[in-house]
Amino acid sequence: MIEQINQLRAEAHSQIFSAPDPEALDRLRVHYIGKKGVLTGLLHQLKDLTPEKRREMGAVLNEVKTNLEQDLKQRQTELKRIVLDKEISGASPLDVTLPGSYAINAGSLHPVTRVMNDVVQILKRIGFSVVTGPEIELEFYNFEALNTPEDHPARDMQDTFYINPPVLLRSHTSPVQIRTMKENRPPIQVIAPGKVYRSDYDLTHTPMFHQIEGLMVDEHLSLADLKGVLNYLIKNLFGTRSLRFRPSFFPFTEPSAEVDMQCIQCKGSGKDCRLCKSTGWLEIGGCGMVHPNVFKSVGYDPDRYSGFAFGMGIERIAMLKYGIDDLRSFFENDIRMLEQF
Ligand code: PHE
Repeated sequence: MIEQINQLRAEAHSQIFSAPDPEALDRLRVHYIGKKGVLTGLLHQLKDLTPEKRREMGAVLNEVKTNLEQDLKQRQTELKRIVLDKEISGASPLDVTLPGSYAINAGSLHPVTRVMNDVVQILKRIGFSVVTGPEIELEFYNFEALNTPEDHPARDMQDTFYINPPVLLRSHTSPVQIRTMKENRPPIQVIAPGKVYRSDYDLTHTPMFHQIEGLMVDEHLSLADLKGVLNYLIKNLFGTRSLRFRPSFFPFTEPSAEVDMQCIQCKGSGKDCRLCKSTGWLEIGGCGMVHPNVFKSVGYDPDRYSGFAFGMGIERIAMLKYGIDDLRSFFENDIRMLEQF
């Protein structure tokens, strides 16, 4: 029996180390040391031997088994190495230049960011430069200096979030007008894009939204200049559209107006139009000539200087531009909505 075992051992050893691939190696494992393998067969034969012989041969067989297991393991490592070398050297069909299976999707700009960038770019072309101010603002800049004293009813129009009076979250970008005028002398030609806050929440209002403010101050500026700037902006955003200036009220401008654009859906006809509620016009912002009291609050001589200001809601523009009917969807971060831009 011992000879038979030695022969088996030698044969198995050479077969294992010439196994060409992991599958062949596994077949050898099953053949030699599997449950119904040759070695197991020999172990079963032990029962026919004398107890002494049985112990002796049992030990031999176990050693052979351990040896074969080691051989198998070693060959397995070698084969892995061989397969990997093949792949690396390009001899196998693996194409390492293919994109990975976990493709990283490229993101895109949020529609609000896109529209904001568009508006900024357009206005920069006609000489406006960008300024910014804090979102956490003082009542003084948000209201008082803008000709809106504490008991002024216009404060109700912009009920806002107070952090700790007089500290609040700015309810519009107009305080940047004051900060800019205080730090500079005319001529001034700036735009102030940014986030603003109001305690509102419905189809067309969210507690945080974006505005862009425009301010131009110089000698001899008139309503005609204001109209020229807004016409240029709307023409570049939406194509040629009529604008109309509807008399309105803001404490910090006089005269004041709401700016309406000819409806982009019904082209101004107003016929069965949901978008403009059949008026033919869409409101896009507020504007006016800077109020003399505002100039006084920043130390400018209102007899020497004149200027205009305008403010627009960016989400409103984005809704019109992309046909989105619920403003809240901008901030729900639903990838199916955002992916479309
Ligand atoms: N700040 C005003 C608002 O948020 C808009 C505006 C800006 C009006 C500048 C006139 C001039 O409602």
